[in-house]
Amino acid sequence: MEKYIINGGNRLEGEVEVSGAKNAAVAILPAVVLSDGICRIENIPNIADVASSLEILAHLGARVRRINKNTVEIDPRGVSPVVVPHDLARQMRASYYFIGVLLGRFGTARVSMPGGCNFGVRPIDQHLKGFTALGAEVSPMEQGMIEVTAQRLVGNSIYLDMVSVGATVNIMLAAVRARGTTVIENAAKEPHIVDLANFLNTMGADVRGAGTDVIKIRGVDHLDGATYSIIPDQIEAGTYMVAAAATAGNVLVRNVIPKHLESITAKLMEMGVQVEEYDDAVRVSRTGPIHHCNVKTMPHPGFPTDMQPQIAVLLSMAEGTSILTESVWDNRFRYIEELRRMGVQAQVDGKVAVFQGIPQLTAAPIKATDLRAGVAMVIAALAARGTSEIEEIQHIERGYEDVDKKFAALGADIRRVSQPDGDMKIKAV
Ligand code: EPU
Repeated sequence: MEKYIINGGNRLEGEVEVSGAKNAAVAILPAVVLSDGICRIENIPNIADVASSLEILAHLGARVRRINKNTVEIDPRGVSPVVVPHDLARQMRASYYFIGVLLGRFGTARVSMPGGCNFGVRPIDQHLKGFTALGAEVSPMEQGMIEVTAQRLVGNSIYLDMVSVGATVNIMLAAVRARGTTVIENAAKEPHIVDLANFLNTMGADVRGAGTDVIKIRGVDHLDGATYSIIPDQIEAGTYMVAAAATAGNVLVRNVIPKHLESITAKLMEMGVQVEEYDDAVRVSRTGPIHHCNVKTMPHPGFPTDMQPQIAVLLSMAEGTSILTESVWDNRFRYIEELRRMGVQAQVDGKVAVFQGIPQLTAAPIKATDLRAGVAMVIAALAARGTSEIEEIQHIERGYEDVDKKFAALGADIRRVSQPDGDMKIKAV
């Protein structure tokens, strides 16, 4: 029932601190199951997807202790391979990482098929191909449940048919305690793959090559507990960079790894936005018009698909015609229908959207359709003239910590409104 009410038109100014990376956290938290000791994970984002991961860990028998908003201590020694039921697995896509860790630790996993953002069909055939190559048997069960079992996992070479973040992570998780060496070819290279490998190695694993397209995992018998701090969220950082540009603002985005942002920085600069890089921060500002530009999403180090809806908002305000091509997901332009209500002029044909830029977006009531599209709508509303209401914000809050508070601290006029029992209450931010 919650929604954001945004009075657009304020330039964003000031500093914003980026949280830990969602897509690293949702891989690293399940990975704790592989450990024989207590793990302390720091810089975890305080978001719904993390809460869901912790809920599944507790369901499996782990002792989960929140030290503070962004630190958690997990004792996995009581974990057993019980079923991960539908009501837990459907809360997020990454629940499928529990297949990899339970298989890797106990040789058996029964997990309901995952939920997550709806971009059309989201198959997991490459994950299953990997598990099978390691010696597991995969059996679909009733009601969307899948069972994966192995007497003993044995390392093998696996060539992924397409670059898949999820399959790369899941195979790494299953292989870490397998006998012998596993080689993943055509592996994903995203920063969160490297972060997961670093965490596994901190626990005593032997994972090499993460960040390249060949990852080698030599199985070990035992993993220790570890203390580990998650990397900053590349996509959250990029989201604030685009928001600064869209509102002709001037924002220092802090706690970032500028190298992870290169593809985003390059496109913003091509569009006439100023980006200055520091050791662990970037300053984004815009004074002039937005130049038209063509953008194509690609696996890392290409332009991230998870920044596609946000950059679409900028392209819709650019001078002239811009082409945006989605090459990772089959169906990630559904949100454009909603943005049209704000005046966005775009033609979508399959995986290509062509934008005719307009100088000023107008406010409208809109619904967040998924996580990144939802935050793109927030950016559009911040840049638009008038008052927009954004509903279905639970999609946004799955992946962005305190997004309303962070924008408000930058000078945005944004309120989070809840409506319990039909009675409208306004929460100050
Ligand atoms: N694919 C297959 N078979 C598979 C696996 C993937 O055909 O077995 C296809 C997918 O359908 C897609 C492409 O391969 O067309 C890439 O999918 P990938 O497996 O890389 O995506 P994912 O692991 O399900 C993660 C992120 C997504 C992000 C993609 C691409 C997590 C939890 N999710 O998803 O993030 O879009 O990688 O970078 O890490 C988000 O954070 O908003 C989000 C959706």
